[in-house]
Amino acid sequence: MSLDVKRIRQDFPILDRKVHGRPLVYLDNAATTQKPRQVIDALVNYYSRYNANIHRGIHALAEEATAAYEQVRDQTARFIGAPSPRGIVFTRNATEAINLFAQSWGRARLKPGDEILLTEMEHHSNLVPWQMLAKSTGAVLQFLKITDDGRLDLNQLDQALTNRTRIVAFTHMSNVLGTINPVEQITQRAHRVGATVLVDAAQSVPHLPVDVRRLGCDALAFSSHKMLGPTGVGVLYAKEELLEVMEPFLGGGEMISDVTLTSSTWNEIPWKFEAGTPNIADVIAFGEAMSYLSRVGLDKVHAHERELAAYAWKRLSELDDMTLYGPDPSANARGGVVAFNVNGLHPHDVGTVLDSEGIAIRAGHHCAKPLMRRLDAVATARASFYIYNTSEEVDQLVTALQAVRAFFNKTVKVSS
Ligand SMILES: Cc1ncc(COP(=O)(O)O)c(C=O)c1O
Repeated sequence: MSLDVKRIRQDFPILDRKVHGRPLVYLDNAATTQKPRQVIDALVNYYSRYNANIHRGIHALAEEATAAYEQVRDQTARFIGAPSPRGIVFTRNATEAINLFAQSWGRARLKPGDEILLTEMEHHSNLVPWQMLAKSTGAVLQFLKITDDGRLDLNQLDQALTNRTRIVAFTHMSNVLGTINPVEQITQRAHRVGATVLVDAAQSVPHLPVDVRRLGCDALAFSSHKMLGPTGVGVLYAKEELLEVMEPFLGGGEMISDVTLTSSTWNEIPWKFEAGTPNIADVIAFGEAMSYLSRVGLDKVHAHERELAAYAWKRLSELDDMTLYGPDPSANARGGVVAFNVNGLHPHDVGTVLDSEGIAIRAGHHCAKPLMRRLDAVATARASFYIYNTSEEVDQLVTALQAVRAFFNKTVKVSS
């Protein structure tokens, strides 16, 4: 059964607005998604009815706020199939979750010559933290290459995994290529050499059913704002036995058990990793976002996006002088992201003309500069879909791209 998109759209007030006099066509969901009324109402409700600091108050408001915040931790664990809420740490975003894990897990463990295995398709958020860790520990970065059609070259995996590989960190779904990587298979092979596995799930948890026990990974990171929730909330899931032995990332209030003038002991997990007042309101509203997605059904979300991506791929390939990136949708290994270039035009120019038609896409390097180099592209345009997008919006994109051609002199060169 497909999604009732018409009904879903009624929950998103922003979809009623016009941009440059045209109805908004929002195709920048891989950057951030729009928010349903239920999430917006949860924020208003928190601030109007039970705003208080959590974990420390003994008054009614503090107890209500604490209960609501901790209930979302339970819900998050259920949402990704984690065995217990003790493995769920709230951060500011996926980026912070990866930095937390890289520093708290890696600083004390990696030795000079140890290997960190990443891939060529990583977002900077799952690259730069490991570069920083490598610099401070003397560990060495290794990279799994991608094939020309934008998949991980798994033929190289066994060679890339050595007895020095300590961590394998890779994206579940590429934010540029749309490729969905076989996490279970990679994790099993990484575990055979004793490596720990972190999955960057910023583009998968919002779009398809994710079960960490089935995937078998040791840690996983994602962001609320890419899944209908507010900005300012990220999640680090990690196995409890890892969190138990990891040192805190930040020090301060709430993360301690006892403090003297010269030393401290740590709170239990997960609070050991949540120093200071957390983002209470946004975590609570994030709970509404997960409830919304669960009601829709992640299977249906994924099927809907795959359909839209396949349709967009077909329509875009029918246009002249286009380059499309990533695996062909018929291969069944991609989600709702389609990166493309109108040959001879800079994607920023393409994005600007589309914007004048009310169509929001992303144009740039998508925080994946090494991948851009591998694709031999300075930048790309990218349309990315979510539950409220329709095939009519894909048609509008295609019509507008035809107008882009008419607007620009085709001799404009892509600048470097
Ligand atoms: C694959 C991937 N990883 C990580 C991130 C970082 O997410 P955030 O900016 O919410 O930390 C993004 C954001 O675009 C992403 O697409």
